[in-house]
Amino acid sequence: MTLFDVYPLNNITILKAQGSYVWDEHNTQYLDMYGGHAVISIGHTQPHWVQRIEDQLHKIAFYSNSIQIPIQQELATKLGNVSGKTDYQLFLVNSGAEANENALKLASFYTGRKKIIAFSKGFHGRTSLAVAATDNPSIIAPVNETSNVDFLPFNDADALQEYFNQHGNDVAAVIIEGIQGVGGINVAHDTFLQLIRSLCNQYGAVYIADSVQCGYGRSGKFFAHDYAGVSADIYTMAKGMGNGFPIGGILIAPHIKPKYGMLGTTFGGNHLACAAALAVLEVIEQDQLIEAALQNGNYLISRLQATTGIANVRGRGLMIGFDVPDDIKDLRKTLLQQYHIFTGEAKPNTIRLLPSLAVSKAQIDVFVDTLQKAIAALKL
Ligand SMILES: Cc1ncc(COP(=O)(O)O)c(C=O)c1O
Repeated sequence: MTLFDVYPLNNITILKAQGSYVWDEHNTQYLDMYGGHAVISIGHTQPHWVQRIEDQLHKIAFYSNSIQIPIQQELATKLGNVSGKTDYQLFLVNSGAEANENALKLASFYTGRKKIIAFSKGFHGRTSLAVAATDNPSIIAPVNETSNVDFLPFNDADALQEYFNQHGNDVAAVIIEGIQGVGGINVAHDTFLQLIRSLCNQYGAVYIADSVQCGYGRSGKFFAHDYAGVSADIYTMAKGMGNGFPIGGILIAPHIKPKYGMLGTTFGGNHLACAAALAVLEVIEQDQLIEAALQNGNYLISRLQATTGIANVRGRGLMIGFDVPDDIKDLRKTLLQQYHIFTGEAKPNTIRLLPSLAVSKAQIDVFVDTLQKAIAALKL
C-alpha cells in the first residue's frame, strides 16, 4: 500500500525533538521557527508534558463520552482561569476543522439561521462547512459548495456594515481569525472586530473567533481577539492546545445553552488528550509563556524590521510574517537546506514564523543573524 500523495514533502526525516530544536536521521540539528505549523506551544517533548501523558497512559487512555470523565472538568476549569473566560462552556473535539465545524453548526442551531459571513483569505479547515467558509476554491469540492456562506473583504468595515444593513436578520455567524495564518499573517483591525461584535449584538448573530492558529497565547494574549477588548460568542481552538497531541475545543458563551445530542464525538475529550492539554496550560502558566511570547515576539519583530532585504514585517507576539522580494525568493529553501532552520510560508511570497512560545531570546538572535547572513549570500 502507498500513502495518498497529497503533501509536497521536504526530503527530511525528523527523528527526535526537544524545545525549539529537531534532529534528522543524520543527527543534524534544525532550529524550529515553524513549530510544526504553529502546533508546538510549550516546546517539543517538554518534560512535564511527556510525564503527564505517560502517567495518564498507565491509568486509562480512553473511554467514550458515556461516563463521567473528571479530567475534562479539570481542563475546563484550568482553561477558564488561564483564558479569563471562566463563565464559558467547553466542548472538546480533535482538530481545528472539527472545532470550526461544530462552532458553525452551533451558531445555526442557536439562531435558527443559515447565513455565514467569512472573509477574503480566511482559512477555517477542510471539513464540509469549515472548508466552505475558507477562501480557497481549489480545496472546496463540489459537494461543499453552498450559497449559505458569503465572503466579504477582510478589514473592510463599510462592506460589513452594508451587508448587515441588507441581510443582517439572516446572519447566523461571522467567523474570523484574529490574525489570519494561512492567508499570510494579516492582523484583524481592533476596530473591525469591535464592529463585528456590535453588529452581531444588534442582529442576534454569533461571533465566532477562529483561534485555532492565533490563539492559546501565541499573539501575546490568550486570544488574539482580546486585543480588541471584545468577547466572542464562540472561540475555536486546536493547534497549540495539545503541543502536538491532537485535541481541539470550542469555548461557548453562557447564553448559548446545550441540549443533549446537539453535538457529539467519539474521541473528543478523551483522557489522554485532556492530560496533554492540562500539561500545556500548566506549563504556560508556570513559565509565563504568554508574557514571554509578547516580549520575545516584540523583540523578534523589531530585529526583523531592522533587517534589510525583507519587506512588510507584521504580526503580534510569536505569529509573525514578512514578505520576501523576488531577488531573494529562495530564502526559505536556503534557510532550511543550508542553514537548517524551519520556517513556514504563505503564498505567494510570505515567510511565516510560528515558533514555540518557549523560544529563547538567544535562539531568536541565532535566527535573525542567520537570516541576515542568508539574505546577504543570496544577494551576491
Ligand atoms: C485558522 C485555522 N483554522 C482552522 C484550521 C484547521 O485546523 P486542522 O488542520 O487542525 O483541522 C487551521 C489549520 O491550519 C487554521 O490555521
